[in-house]
Amino acid sequence: MSHVLAAVAWPYANGPRHIGHVSGFGVPSDVFSRYMRMAGHDVLMVSGTDEHGTPIQVQADKEGVTPRELADRYNRVIVEDLHGLGLSYDLFTRTTTRNHYAVVQEVFEGLHRNGYIISRTTLGAISPSTGRTLPDRYIEGTCPICGYDGARGDQCDNCGNQLDPSDLINPKSKINGETPKFVETEHFFLDLPGFVEALNTWLDAREGWRPNVLRFSKNLVDDLQPRAITRDLEWGVPIPLADWKDRNDKRIYVWFDAVIGYLSASVEWARRTGDPEAWRRWWSADGEGKDASAFYFMGKDNIVFHSVIWPALLLGYSGEGDRGGEAGSYGRLNLPTEVVSSEYLTMEGKKFSSSRSVVIYVRDFLERYDADALRYFIAAAGPESNDTDFTWAEFLRRNNDELVAGWGNLVNRSISMAAKNFGVIPEAVAPTAEDEALLATVRGGFESVGGLLAKHRQKAAIGEAMRIVAEVNKYLSDQAPWKLKAEEDKPRQGTVLHVALQAVSDCNRLLTPFLPHSAQKIHELLGGEGVHAPQPRIEEVEDLDGGPSYPILTGDYTVGATWEPAGITAGTPLAAPKPVFRKLDPVIIEEELARLGG
Ligand code: MF3
Ligand code: ZN
Repeated sequence: MSHVLAAVAWPYANGPRHIGHVSGFGVPSDVFSRYMRMAGHDVLMVSGTDEHGTPIQVQADKEGVTPRELADRYNRVIVEDLHGLGLSYDLFTRTTTRNHYAVVQEVFEGLHRNGYIISRTTLGAISPSTGRTLPDRYIEGTCPICGYDGARGDQCDNCGNQLDPSDLINPKSKINGETPKFVETEHFFLDLPGFVEALNTWLDAREGWRPNVLRFSKNLVDDLQPRAITRDLEWGVPIPLADWKDRNDKRIYVWFDAVIGYLSASVEWARRTGDPEAWRRWWSADGEGKDASAFYFMGKDNIVFHSVIWPALLLGYSGEGDRGGEAGSYGRLNLPTEVVSSEYLTMEGKKFSSSRSVVIYVRDFLERYDADALRYFIAAAGPESNDTDFTWAEFLRRNNDELVAGWGNLVNRSISMAAKNFGVIPEAVAPTAEDEALLATVRGGFESVGGLLAKHRQKAAIGEAMRIVAEVNKYLSDQAPWKLKAEEDKPRQGTVLHVALQAVSDCNRLLTPFLPHSAQKIHELLGGEGVHAPQPRIEEVEDLDGGPSYPILTGDYTVGATWEPAGITAGTPLAAPKPVFRKLDPVIIEEELARLGG
């Protein structure tokens, strides 16, 4: 057993999540965490909503509410979305807790003490008519990189590059159209060149990463420049230095605070369990967390923050950047073991876009379809290491031809035949070589599927599990227990059904990380009791340090099935099953396409 941190990207609290979001960070991290727990590891899975910075402020302005109101609204919506998908977070929290502010400020101070945060004078915009600071996002102009003329002072939405307002050609205030005046202003920068050696040493020692992610990360280290980590903005974590703490116009940059969320959420989780130091088992590079591993899940646009910026923060805080230093009060902290980055999911050949209605939100999806049907699609056809496309036709095909006709049909016919002919799990008498061979194939799945899951090859893993399901279906067709109706054939019929049910029970475990909701039902259909696949719950909690209350996702995941075959018991009563999976009517394709862009 070992300690495994599953660190999942923090969704912005600026709108409901669509299935493109959850296919990158959500479902894969849950499949991995569920598998690792079943295999006996001590998993800590943490995340929360990312609630500061421009993305929140811009949407709040659009909706005519304060950033706080916006974050409160969408934090709740997102918690419900993730709960509906059965994502088993130990803690899903938010970045506006007092605990998070304190942890972010501790890390900032540690880096500053060690000399990795430097102050620099840059050009900031002010409004000539009011004399007040003009936040970056309120300045518009032509992008110096791609020539797009609606670029904002913080970034160009056309080419995606981060910008400084003073880079814009022909800058204008979005508030009143005037040309901003640029004056010198002070900001803090993370001195990234001070980490080049340490980052290279760390990256060179990485094994098993997806090759493109590692290559991309190494290239980034080649030309690192100091990077601004404060912004002209009122919404964010205050800068914890004398003379800066009480300023209303400067805040810590949202990405700096968000990545520290992995640590602050772990600390919050520990404080809530009543053992406030427990987080160290996943984080301390010395002592109890020394052998822990840490896997970070995200989409590819987040790689730089997880394979360069976050490791640099951890190194600098630990006193292990190129200029050394001393570790802060948390001690030396573990760097990521692996950055598990996915590619993009598109929707009917187009980029997801809420504004152009190329979108299906998680909550709308779950109103019409089952969570496990989506989880199956994402595992089997998601953007694991290539961009992939979600189409309603392909969703229907995967659901009907694979999930329902393959796995659902096996569960259904084996249990109903046994229920009808025996009313219980029948006895196996004198199993044949074929019976033994089938059971050996199924047992082999714990190695093969498990090995693939441990390496984040979830597509191959679910493919292997479904190949085994197909073998069991073939066994049933070959043995044709429905023909063994005569009195003298009864023992053989019972044996075949016993073998089939044993195989179903084992396959159900192999599929549990992917399909936890149906796995629980199938466990019960086989006469099992108690929790087979634990689920998260939403809990309304008080802020630990006196802030407002908020909903979290948490759960008890120490219960449930383990990753090994488990013998079924002859004589266990069986009832005729209700189908576990729903076949979809092809008419939904037309209906859903009509909703798109409509
Ligand atoms: N909110 C960011 C996004 O949606 C992801 C933040 S991941 C974190 O792209 F680690 F920084 F929190
Ligand atoms: Zn551009």
